[in-house]
Amino acid sequence: MAKRTLSGRARACANIALAKYWGKSDIPLNLPAVPSLSLTLDKLVTDTRVTFDEQLPADEVFLDETLQTGKASARVVELLDRVRKKAGLAAYARVQSKNNFPTAAGLASSASGFAALAAAANVAAGLPYDEKRVSAWARQSSASAARSVYGGFVELKAGRPGQKSLSARPIAPADHWDVRLLVAITAQGPKKVGSTLGMEHSRETSPLYQAWVEQSTAMFNRVKRGVLRRDLEMVGRAMEQSTFSFHACAMASDPGILYWQPPTIAALHTVRALREDKGIAAYATMDAGPHVKVLCEAKDAARIKRALLATEGVSEVLTARPGPAIRLG
Ligand code: PMV
Repeated sequence: MAKRTLSGRARACANIALAKYWGKSDIPLNLPAVPSLSLTLDKLVTDTRVTFDEQLPADEVFLDETLQTGKASARVVELLDRVRKKAGLAAYARVQSKNNFPTAAGLASSASGFAALAAAANVAAGLPYDEKRVSAWARQSSASAARSVYGGFVELKAGRPGQKSLSARPIAPADHWDVRLLVAITAQGPKKVGSTLGMEHSRETSPLYQAWVEQSTAMFNRVKRGVLRRDLEMVGRAMEQSTFSFHACAMASDPGILYWQPPTIAALHTVRALREDKGIAAYATMDAGPHVKVLCEAKDAARIKRALLATEGVSEVLTARPGPAIRLG
């Protein structure tokens, strides 16, 4: 009998959380302990092809044309196993993935990466495309990836321990609000402590972890209300509080986790000075890395970009708009 190959391709955009996820309620099921809300970004894209091929002796994972081994490849294989199980497939797969931005530098590459992988594998396996299922598959690999399945403004609720399935949900489309998200690059190379490790270490050792979990829903609610009303000040203030709270929680771990570099702090002061001295509505957020992301109105983006580029240690500034859901094919 002829050997079968089945192929699928998907492109997913990264997302940046306006209300942050940090901490798991169930580690094996990878369920978040807090609700989060993100903006999908048009600028940072992962393009992934998955080919199930009966002639392959094992799964092969290429990222930017480099063969992945160890943990990076094992996380991909786990997701492929979930898809194979659902589709009743036995064949191994070749995964070819490309990012148009630096991988693992705190630019949410795992979010767009696992979302594109789940969608491409869904198509390659010959299953009907199901956003909710793809979001749940992606979430099991990287919770933030659940949100990259959708465009615009997306929420992911907290999961109860043992909860069978959890997907993200769009709350407003990309054209709901014409904001900009500027990404100020403050360091080169991959981050030192990955988010999975960082949040586990925070849960185990940070005296601020419980307070973070208790307060996160209120911050999430303020961000969500602000997004629905297109109220930049409401979103911005809650977003900064969410960012500073989770970083404070991580910093208070034992030993402390410090993602910030000197240019991170300089960029944060630039944002404050724009707001306080020039009256420009600019608000900062950060992930598990040193880069500073700034949320603002479209009309202010060019001026804020200039100020960030003039900040010591900021090497580059990307400007992103609200981006689309996953695109197939
Ligand atoms: O989904 P993960 O494991 O990559 O964790 C993402 C955590 C943060 O980026 C810090 C916050 C978030 O909600 O995206």
